[in-house]
Amino acid sequence: MMEKYFAKISGTGMYVPEKILTNTDLEKIVDTSDEWIRTRTGMSERHIASKDQAATDLAYEATLKAIESARIKHRDIDMIICATISGDHPFPSTACILQKKLGLRDFPAFDVSAGCTGWIYAANIAKQYIENGIAENVLVIGVEILSKITNYDDRNTCVLFGDGAGATIISRAEPKDISRLIDSDLSADGTYYDLLIQDAGGSRKPATKETVQENLHTVYMEGNKIFKLAIKSMYNTCQKVLKRNHMDTKSIDWLITHQANLRIIDALGKKLKIDEEKVFINIEKYGNTSSATVPMALDEAIRENRIRHGDLVLLASFGAGLTSGSLLFRM
Ligand code: UT7
Repeated sequence: MMEKYFAKISGTGMYVPEKILTNTDLEKIVDTSDEWIRTRTGMSERHIASKDQAATDLAYEATLKAIESARIKHRDIDMIICATISGDHPFPSTACILQKKLGLRDFPAFDVSAGCTGWIYAANIAKQYIENGIAENVLVIGVEILSKITNYDDRNTCVLFGDGAGATIISRAEPKDISRLIDSDLSADGTYYDLLIQDAGGSRKPATKETVQENLHTVYMEGNKIFKLAIKSMYNTCQKVLKRNHMDTKSIDWLITHQANLRIIDALGKKLKIDEEKVFINIEKYGNTSSATVPMALDEAIRENRIRHGDLVLLASFGAGLTSGSLLFRM
């Protein structure tokens, strides 16, 4: 019989570019107000990459921190999974470019496109590879430079997004280790694929002068249609893993969800009947960094000593696709 291994989160790191774009800065770009952005989204500022920064530049910095916190060497990594929708190039994968930057080779490196749920999809895949014994230290990253695919004439979207990277090392756990990834659920509903989309640049609408002029290479989102679906699908995916593991939110020490809107996070917390103090929120500082929100928040919560060894943590996200997913783990 094949030996059963367990996976755990052994290290985390994050990186955001230096430049900060505040709500007041945005008031000078589009018809908006600090008050509208704060009350409708919970955001105050977001970090924006410089002209010459690409996704792997952010991912590399976050990775160095994650490697340090996992107390491993670069060469101990045996797989890279990068969740992104704003990678360095449409192809090759951002994971392969990062592998080169890290001076590594000869193991699998690939990207996952699941919008804001990307890191949870990637962590779920890493869990399988650790549990089947094939990998021992998987570098799982959520990285986005959405500012480069944002239309700064569209107030419906441009106030929301920020840039950043969150890196995690998912490693084989020792048999006596209490830290482990317990369960993860993934889902998608393609019916709504066109509510959140980068319309042009793929094989459906290849890049032309017209697609550029019509701003079809930037993020299009019908935010208010997505709002309720976000709460419902994150609730469903959280309930699924809790039920499957005979738990309810009383057992959970921390809930970290995708940081797209404070009102979504609050509504989900209420629906799940979880104490407000157990919900980690950092949306005010970074805005919506898509696949990077969950690993960035996880890193902050660990570094601020809020999540401690032995804590039970539930992660959930929701995004383009429309995808959703959750991950339950003991730190
Ligand atoms: O990360 C992937 C998943 N994404 C999400 O989960 C996002 C989910 N959606 C949301 O977070 C919210 O729907 C938004 C923050 C995007 C928008 O908030 P909302 O309360 O749903 O606003 P709305 O789109 O229904 O618009 C309400 C009003 C409109 O004006 P009228 O038509 O009522 O006069 C908008 O034009 O707010 C207006 N508006 C703005 N006003 C000032 C929209 N954006 C802005 C803005 N500043 N930036």
